[in-house]
Amino acid sequence: MCSIIGYKGKQSAAPILVDSLKKMEYRGYDSVGVAMINEGGMLVRKGTGKVLEVNKNLNISGMSGMIGIGHTRWATHGGVTDSNAHPHSACNKSIAVVHNGIIENYKELKKELTEAGHVFTSETDSEVIAHLLEVHLAKGIKDALIATCKRLQGTYGFVAVFQDGTIAGARYEEPLIIGVANDGYFISSDVLGFLQYTDKAIFLDNCDIAIIDSKKMEIFNFDGTPVARPITQVAWELGEIDKGKYAHYTLKEINDQRLTVAHAAQQDEAVMGKFCEILKNAGSVYITGSGTSYHSALLFKHMLARFAKIRAETVMSSEAHDGLASVDDGSVIIAISQSGETADVLESVKVSKKQGAKILGIVNVTTSSLARISDAFLSTNCGPEIGVAATKSFTGQLALAYAVTDRLTEGKLRAGEAAEFVAAIEKVISTSQPVIEKMAADMKDVNDIYLLGRSIHYPIALEGALKLKELSYVHAEGVAAGELKHGPLALMEKNTLVILLAPHDATYNDSISNAHEIKARGATVIGISNIKDDIYDHWIEIPHLDQEAFYPIVEVIPLQMLSYYLALAKNADPDYPRNLAKSVTVK
Ligand code: M6R
Repeated sequence: MCSIIGYKGKQSAAPILVDSLKKMEYRGYDSVGVAMINEGGMLVRKGTGKVLEVNKNLNISGMSGMIGIGHTRWATHGGVTDSNAHPHSACNKSIAVVHNGIIENYKELKKELTEAGHVFTSETDSEVIAHLLEVHLAKGIKDALIATCKRLQGTYGFVAVFQDGTIAGARYEEPLIIGVANDGYFISSDVLGFLQYTDKAIFLDNCDIAIIDSKKMEIFNFDGTPVARPITQVAWELGEIDKGKYAHYTLKEINDQRLTVAHAAQQDEAVMGKFCEILKNAGSVYITGSGTSYHSALLFKHMLARFAKIRAETVMSSEAHDGLASVDDGSVIIAISQSGETADVLESVKVSKKQGAKILGIVNVTTSSLARISDAFLSTNCGPEIGVAATKSFTGQLALAYAVTDRLTEGKLRAGEAAEFVAAIEKVISTSQPVIEKMAADMKDVNDIYLLGRSIHYPIALEGALKLKELSYVHAEGVAAGELKHGPLALMEKNTLVILLAPHDATYNDSISNAHEIKARGATVIGISNIKDDIYDHWIEIPHLDQEAFYPIVEVIPLQMLSYYLALAKNADPDYPRNLAKSVTVK
């Protein structure tokens, strides 16, 4: 959600912090702030807006000093205002804090601290951390951190900077990572925060406290016992974080799919073997995820049932409380998450683990919390995804679902080669851009879009609707085409816009019948198919595929492109949709 960065080293900190915040801005972009320690003491600059805009207004990168912390916010408690922007300072201005997560008992703590004379300057839950540290600081920084963490309920990764130049952080259910450079240390909520300076990372465990003072960096658990955490070399290439020749990350990531789907399909034999062995031995199988990753779960379920004859239940992670209630020690949970940090997903996995289930993760971030707590995990291998709307991670998840099914069925799907859908994706990306861009411009004033798909196309109808909503702010609804006559048909009238997913497979004839029913009510139909039909007002062509099961991974591409170009036509920023953030680490 929010991004956190701290730096203590031999270089000028402010430009590094601004650069890091820009790289992590996809995590939250409501406001920005930095606290620096220099000869003049502690200086805080913060304000609403995106990183470059706030930097331009407040000249953050011009602040002097070699020690500082920074933050970009995704608002939870308190509006998007300058005073609610982080860092938050204690009363005596000798401590400043940046926080990611939610402090659930903040009201009670705030009341107690206010009664003791502390003056709050924001509406946030986070500010209590600064005041609690201040209360306990007389005992020393380490004890102040321990005492503060003991009082906090909820979830947090926080970093504090102290007047003496010490930087310290603590984590509970939110990620915090130390970057070890030759001339200093970073502390961040995301490796992207320091990857341009060092690829050596220490992933703090839950309930760890890290203190970086003038001499050394030490890690303790919440009891104060020193703990050793290994240094991991982070694999991602810096070039992957650059948007290169593209106007937006989202466009780059849509284009990246030419290669990334193949990367996802090619898995290490041994890792895939372990994953499938656990799955084959499961008494019951559940697949969980949120948002886009949940849509992958829906397609995965179809693949397992249709080809591997494995029955799986899909559960939205936010509904796991009931959906996973009957999980037991014979159960296997396949948890899908690009970030591997989504709070709902992690919670459902932790609860299932306690009930004895085995966890199979599907992640893009291999150093994430989900990867770490899984019994086995597969990586979608598609490199960092910066655009808030999931694109290449979705097709990576689908490619993995095919690859797993293929392995379980000893090659029935021929997904191992992946060549068929890779070529089709390449073709769609390179040929349909002008058609779709023009279509988006014509659709600029549409208020509602219905996306219809049957069987394996229904998850894509849902995913297409989600992309349209988040990127172009148009109301869009994915409908199981067979359900049309059970209700949604009442919405069809002149000028209603319907996108029909109708490749020439087992669902084709029924889908075309639906198109006739819709057209009879005067609606406009855009068909996505390998076959042109007169019933369509507009046709988006996708290639013919011999393996029908691969149509979903191909037909989603035009929907991603349409959402992107519709965002542009409506002057929306496709990389940073309003009110959203890339990883949702709060419940
Ligand atoms: O990182 P995750 O895959 O766990 O994220 C889950 C959802 O928050 C995510 O897919 C969200 O729905 C995307 N913004 C969709 O484009």
